[in-house]
Amino acid sequence: MENKKKIFSIILVLAMVIGTVALSGCTQETKNKIIVGTSADFAPFEYKLANQTIVGFDIDLIKKVLTDQGYTVEVQDIQFDSLIPALQQGKIDVIAAAMTIDDERKQQVDFSIPYYDSNQTVLVKVGGGVNITTIEDLKNYTVGAQTGTTGWDWVNDTLVATGKLNKDKFRGYDLYTDAVADLIIGPSRVGAVVIDTPVAQAFANKGNVKIVLNITTNESYGFAVKKGDTVLVNKINAGLTAVAATTYWEELIEKYFAT
Ligand code: ARG
Repeated sequence: MENKKKIFSIILVLAMVIGTVALSGCTQETKNKIIVGTSADFAPFEYKLANQTIVGFDIDLIKKVLTDQGYTVEVQDIQFDSLIPALQQGKIDVIAAAMTIDDERKQQVDFSIPYYDSNQTVLVKVGGGVNITTIEDLKNYTVGAQTGTTGWDWVNDTLVATGKLNKDKFRGYDLYTDAVADLIIGPSRVGAVVIDTPVAQAFANKGNVKIVLNITTNESYGFAVKKGDTVLVNKINAGLTAVAATTYWEELIEKYFAT
């Protein structure tokens, strides 16, 4: 009787040990920390506070979605045109950078369901003597956009490739914040910046620059993951769908888009 009890408890302890080992093996496989890459020059979607903390609509949203799915999140600031390479090299797990879902990028990364719609605009300095009322007027100025963006593509395809803008009047910037800083210096630096509408509005709200043209491009932003990372993209999609059905979504819109 005593012996049987002993054997039983030994088996029990063994089973527990095996169980623990098996479980820890599992947690090693499913990575729990997600590194989110962004380009923090694009308020209200992603930008830096004075203390360098990265905040914004995209940042709050992806943090909420991923933490709800059981992950911890770290955010890294990376130049926009290096985000896709960083994802492909496994340096980051997700791109949250107001990145437009387009066919060219779909060859390189997998996108979540769309979470925000946008178009492009032309931004100029208030009181800078810049006179732009049609797309044709852009030829009289240096035109800027962030390298690697759909705004850059638009200038390149619609203006430069068609001969409407001389190619040395087209200036690519690493950061949109630098492009707008040059815009505020004046047309000797850059006369017009092509940039996503909601971000143009945020810059215009500060008073130094204004929107003079709207360009309909019908873009939608998505979060990007490494090609084939279906586990993660499915979790992001599930989380996005869940969050969109709660008041958290309206709170986020209110927090970042109320003027
Ligand atoms: N929506 C545009 C694109 O996908 C611009 C995104 C720029 N984002 C940023 N965080 N600077 O190309």
